[in-house]
Order: sequence, then structure tokens, then C-alpha cells
Amino acid sequence: MTVVALGLPSVQRPLPAAPTDGPLIDTFGRVATDLRVSLTDLCNLRCTYCMPAEGLDWLQGEQKLRPAELNRLISIAVTRLGITSVRFTGGEPLVVPHLEEVIAATAVLRPRPEITLTTNGVGLARRAAGLKAAGLDRINVSLDTVDAARFAAITRRDRLADVVDGLQAAQAAGLDPVKVNAVLDPVTGLDDAVALLRFCLRHGYQLRIIEQMPLDAGHAWERDRAVRADDILAELRRHFTLNPDPAPRGSAPAELWQVDDGTGATGRVGIIASVSHAFCAACDRSRLTADGQVRNCLFAREETDLRALLRSGADDAALEAAWRAAMWAKAAGHGINEPDFVQPDRPMSAIGG
Ligand code: 5AD
Ligand code: SF4
Repeated sequence: MTVVALGLPSVQRPLPAAPTDGPLIDTFGRVATDLRVSLTDLCNLRCTYCMPAEGLDWLQGEQKLRPAELNRLISIAVTRLGITSVRFTGGEPLVVPHLEEVIAATAVLRPRPEITLTTNGVGLARRAAGLKAAGLDRINVSLDTVDAARFAAITRRDRLADVVDGLQAAQAAGLDPVKVNAVLDPVTGLDDAVALLRFCLRHGYQLRIIEQMPLDAGHAWERDRAVRADDILAELRRHFTLNPDPAPRGSAPAELWQVDDGTGATGRVGIIASVSHAFCAACDRSRLTADGQVRNCLFAREETDLRALLRSGADDAALEAAWRAAMWAKAAGHGINEPDFVQPDRPMSAIGG
């Protein structure tokens, strides 16, 4: 391709064609084995760092993949593209009535992928056992504070008790380990982190604290306000003994610590420094949105429309090729720390965390 900049023609190296078989690879040699499937952009909470109080312009009816279309794409990912783990997310995946059906359809695929869910936990108490029975292996529940008033302030809904019940039900259902994902509030977050870790140690949940990324619908993220991983670690060390977890980290984004509160409660805590120590070089993810778009990165500026292809009658080989081409073009990194960083058009709730 010839690009004209400042009137001077320059030649950009054209991308070689994507491989037609083998693993789902990009030009940097990274292999995607983990598929994140956003089942809906809807949510029953309104976290201030995610969306406005009035909600967003939700996807409508036919814009969204039907369960059969979704199952077909997941089947292609697992049986043709080497995906070995599938995480269902949202928005809030528990608001989707066919969640159990999609999990069950994923669980019969061979080789059977690991199946996980990221949820805000509202309504989980009623669904946990059924999700496990459908084939769910593990669960991550988002919880940013264990203080009821702060929870209501952050999520704009008074539902802390629901989430706490959901966590208990998930553990009772054998969804092991139950992980708690926390994004910290810029003002109260360090206190919240200490209380969350005590709560998780007491109940046997694994806490993972995630640096806030510029993925809010309001584009109001500010680097200097977001709580940094180093500050979280320093604060936790004032209250707990932390030792690096010896288990190899692989492509897992969390830096894991073994933790001891001094009274006999022990466990592990993960800190995910997505912004301050980006782990893009080890990324193994591919993403499918609720409206059938493949994204090769949370921060991608482009999407590949598998829904249109699918509805135009494309066969599995054509869908596979489009998916491979989408991943092949993956950028080296999210670029949040570059001066020319541009936030993606879609917010986290429409991409899937
Ligand atoms: N940065 C980091 N994590 C986020 N989440 C939502 N928005 C952001 C953001 N801007 C988290 C939620 C949930 C998961 C789906 O993503 O808290 O744990
Ligand atoms: Fe819903 Fe998750 Fe966004 Fe909170 S962060 S409003 S739980 S999608």
C-alpha cells in the first residue's frame, strides 16, 4: 500500500497473508487460545467507571447473535482455530436467558474447552448450581468494595448482599476457585483493597485487583486518578505478608502473591497491571462481541463482521478464514502509554471484559 504523508510518498510493508491452518496466530507469533465471548451489552448495574446512570444505546434484536449463531461461531473457534478456553462475559451475562444453553453447547465440543464466566454476581445465587450443571468450570465475580454504601455509590445500585450471596452459592456449587475481580475507586480504593482481601481470605475466594483501563463510555478515564498496581501492592504490604507465588505465570495477566494476614488466614492475591506493566506480549486472547464482531484486542480500532458473513450464508471455512485474518492483524500492544493513544469507540460493556 502506498501512503502519502506530507506530500511524500512512502511505502508501507504489506501484511503477508494469514495462515490457512494451524493455531490462531498473529504476525508477532502470539497464539490466541482464549476466547472472550460477550453475550450482551446490557447490564443491571451502572458502575460509574463503566457507564452513565441512564445506561447506553443497547444493541437491539437482530443486531445480536442468536443462540444458534453464537454456538456455531464458538464451535468454529474450538474445533478449527485451536481455542482451548472460552470465557462468557457481558455487559452482564446473567441477564441473558440462554446463558446455560450456550454453556451446555460449548461443553459438548471436543476437545472440550475450559468454560468460565465473568459476572457482577447479581442473581448468581439462583443460577450458580444450574451453571455448574450446564458445564461451567470457574467463575470471576466483579466486586470493588465490601462496604455497602460504597458499593451503592460505585454501582448506583444497592445490591452488595446479592453479590455476597452469589459468591457463596458459586463456592457451594463447586465453581472452584471463586475469583473476585476488583477495580479500585480512585478515592477509597486502597482501603477497599485491604477490606476486600480480608473478606476473600476469610471465605476462600481469590482476589484479583485490576488497574482501571481507558474503556469507559464517557471517555473520562485519567491516568493520574486510576490506582496503580505499585500503590496497591505497597498498601497491601502494610497489612499483610506477601510473597511472590512460585507458580509459573505463563500468559496469565495477574502477578500472583501468596498472602498471610498474620492470624492464620492465607491465600493468594493477583494484581493485574494492565496499564502500568502491560502484558500485551503474552496476550493469548481473541474476542467476540454480542453482535458478532471479532476483535483482536480490547483496544482494537477495527472489528471483523462475522455476523454479516454468517448471515450471508458463508460456510465454516470462510468464517474460519475471516477470523484468522482478523487475529493476524493484531497490533503489538494496546498503546495506552503512547502519546497518540486513541480510546476504542466501544466501551468495555460492549466489548466484554
Ligand atoms: N478497566 C478495567 N476493568 C474494567 N472493568 C470494567 N471496566 C473496566 C475498566 N475500565 C472490569 C469489571 C469486571 C470486568 C468485566 O471488567 O469490573 O470485573
Ligand atoms: Fe455492568 Fe460490569 Fe459495567 Fe459495572 S463494570 S456497569 S457490572 S458491565
